[in-house]
Amino acid sequence: MKFRTERPESWQVCLGCGNETTELDPHPRCIACGGLLEVRHRPPKLSGAELIERFTERRGQHPGAPASGVWRFREVVLPSAGDVVSHPEGNTPLLHRHALDRWTGAAHLLLKHEGHNPTGSFKDRGMTVGVTQARRIGATAVACASTGNTSASLAAYAAQAGIPALVLVPADQVALGKLAQTLAYGARTLLVRGDFDDCLRLVDEASRRLNVYLLNSINPFRIEGQKTIVLEMLEQLGWEPPDWIVLPAGNLGNTAAFGKALLEAHRWGLISRLPRLAAVQAAGAAPFARSFAEDFEHRYAVRAETVATAIRIGNPASFERAVHAIRDTEGVVLAVTDADILEAKAAVDGCGVGCEPASAASVAGVRDLVRRGLMDAEEHAVAVLTGHILKDPGLLLEYHRQMDPPPPGANRPIEIDADLGAVERVLAAARS
Ligand code: F0G
Repeated sequence: MKFRTERPESWQVCLGCGNETTELDPHPRCIACGGLLEVRHRPPKLSGAELIERFTERRGQHPGAPASGVWRFREVVLPSAGDVVSHPEGNTPLLHRHALDRWTGAAHLLLKHEGHNPTGSFKDRGMTVGVTQARRIGATAVACASTGNTSASLAAYAAQAGIPALVLVPADQVALGKLAQTLAYGARTLLVRGDFDDCLRLVDEASRRLNVYLLNSINPFRIEGQKTIVLEMLEQLGWEPPDWIVLPAGNLGNTAAFGKALLEAHRWGLISRLPRLAAVQAAGAAPFARSFAEDFEHRYAVRAETVATAIRIGNPASFERAVHAIRDTEGVVLAVTDADILEAKAAVDGCGVGCEPASAASVAGVRDLVRRGLMDAEEHAVAVLTGHILKDPGLLLEYHRQMDPPPPGANRPIEIDADLGAVERVLAAARS
């Protein structure tokens, strides 16, 4: 259908066939063609300057949801949402470290650290909106497939809302911290003998058959929440956009969210020009980078393999949305090797910031952009760190304690007997 009268405040539209539906339609995909949906809003009644004033006013003024880094931006996220399920989330820092300027070759690299969210990843920004929407439509259960962060976030927000959660994750491929969180927050957890792409196919089918509300990032309400990473970053920069925003890319929900946020911010008078997006994949899981190299003429699916398990995804679900995001921002898509990701991670960890492996892909991507001459060293770039360092303690310990030969950043612990002489000998050896 198409709305023939005046449009409501928000509605959903299919990016494939243009079919339109109401904001409260619970189907996660277009019922006409199975395509991906997008939430659209009528332009806000306030001017850009008035919106900015309102967003800023709310920050820190009230405890809880009104000051959340998602719901502060409610006019451009989900204006009609009343009672929201909020931790609260967002309000994450924008950091600068000289050591990372030196490592990447970019003169003014900033890091937007989304690992500072309540469950330790950016997923909380989408999940507060997704679970709020689940409650609005009266969902009796929610579900997702995940490489670990979405499942941890869904489990936490579903627990808060009192809605049962079902998660499907690839057996043996989920980082320890993420699996532990998912179990602790109480989600029914299925360890699927397969990869993430198998999990997503399965949960998509199961949610339809079992009438469970699907909260993967194909759900357009998740995208609305994730837009606030960009909005908050722009706010922290005084609404003066950087030249580049660089982010890790897996299932491509975040790439899509960033593109939508930038276009709307431009259209609604919050910024006067668009930054370029750079989406960074792991070389062993880079179907989107391959499509980009061919001007998106073909869509590829690959068997994914990378040390960055969060982005170990071979057939990204938000492909079409992300193509728009890259084209609309004159963006680029890169692939970086696992060795680059680990080196970047050691650099981020070693300056006291820390992040999970997939997040370090964005920092490796900045170095690659500079080396290839795509980014000028003097240009302003923000790299998004998507997850917390403690998400993947298994890899950290392997890197520092076990890898043989030790990688360049390895910090081997030294086992000693419990006496002062042993401590003195270690210190003396370190001085010499
Ligand atoms: N970084 C981290 C830490 C992630 O967990 C993910 C995705 C991404 C980057 C990529 O974002 O999929 O929107 O392109 N994690 C999903 C999950 C797949 O299940 O937690 P994307």
